[in-house]
Amino acid sequence: MSNTLDGKVVLVTGASSGIGEATALALSQEGARVAVGARRTDRLATLAEKAPGDVLTLELDVTDQESVRAAIAATVERFGALDVLVNNAGIMLTGPILGADTAEWTRMVETNLLGSMYTVHAALPHLLASRGAVVQISSTSGRTASAGGGVYAATKFGINAFSESLRQELTANGLRVVVIEPGFVATELASHITDSMMQAAAQQMASSMRTLEPEDIAAAVCYAIAQPDHVAVNEILVRPTDQTH
Ligand SMILES: NC(=O)c1ccc[n+]([C@@H]2O[C@H](COP(=O)([O-])OP(=O)(O)OC[C@H]3O[C@@H](n4cnc5c(N)ncnc54)[C@H](OP(=O)(O)O)[C@@H]3O)[C@@H](O)[C@H]2O)c1
Repeated sequence: MSNTLDGKVVLVTGASSGIGEATALALSQEGARVAVGARRTDRLATLAEKAPGDVLTLELDVTDQESVRAAIAATVERFGALDVLVNNAGIMLTGPILGADTAEWTRMVETNLLGSMYTVHAALPHLLASRGAVVQISSTSGRTASAGGGVYAATKFGINAFSESLRQELTANGLRVVVIEPGFVATELASHITDSMMQAAAQQMASSMRTLEPEDIAAAVCYAIAQPDHVAVNEILVRPTDQTH
């Protein structure tokens, strides 16, 4: 029996941990040929060893347009096409606006928003050639902002806005745009928060509920891109059952 994604070429950004790593593994298990990008290439090498299929590891910094273009080119050179981009790389440095270290705002906007836009820009000619798909890993923070999460939410609202423009511009050309909005997922994302109150709040939230696992989001990605070409699953919101806000 053939797997659902047999032969599809998928690039996953931010695949060295968490949702990206789990998604790359799930895609490989479904028969996709997977390119994985991140800055921590040692972790990508370990992932490639675990994956059942063909995996290309790429040193990638999404804030650097040259690095993004090189990763797309290397993927197409190795596999001959690009069918799906999973735009997942991101950071969450939450904290109050008053007195914030604005260098953290710059890093979030450059990584989450500009980085994901650069990646779409570089991948589009290939995705159009294959009538492929873009999967944008947004967040529940792309739908609702909360105290302490203003800049992170701004990047995710931005991703949602960009995705809807992209969809309207290119759906007639066969491009499918999928926005995935996870609630709380158990990953290392919150461990990089420098604000001690926000760090404590994230830990309290994690211990107060049955969180999502990265594999739960990987399953949503696989579901969306395994649909027939005429079906565009444009938005998936996945929260832990126990998450109220
Ligand atoms: N965990 C949650 O609760 C949750 C909820 C909603 C949405 N999300 C979103 O899911 C995505 C993945 O997060 P995660 O939870 O899986 O966290 P994670 O384990 O910290 O993964 C983040 C990934 O992004 C990569 N990354 C960061 N900066 C990068 C850069 N400049 N260039 C390339 N890659 C970069 C990291 O790799 P390197 O450091 O090796 O580069 C890592 O692989 C993010 O967009 C996040 O906003 C997460």
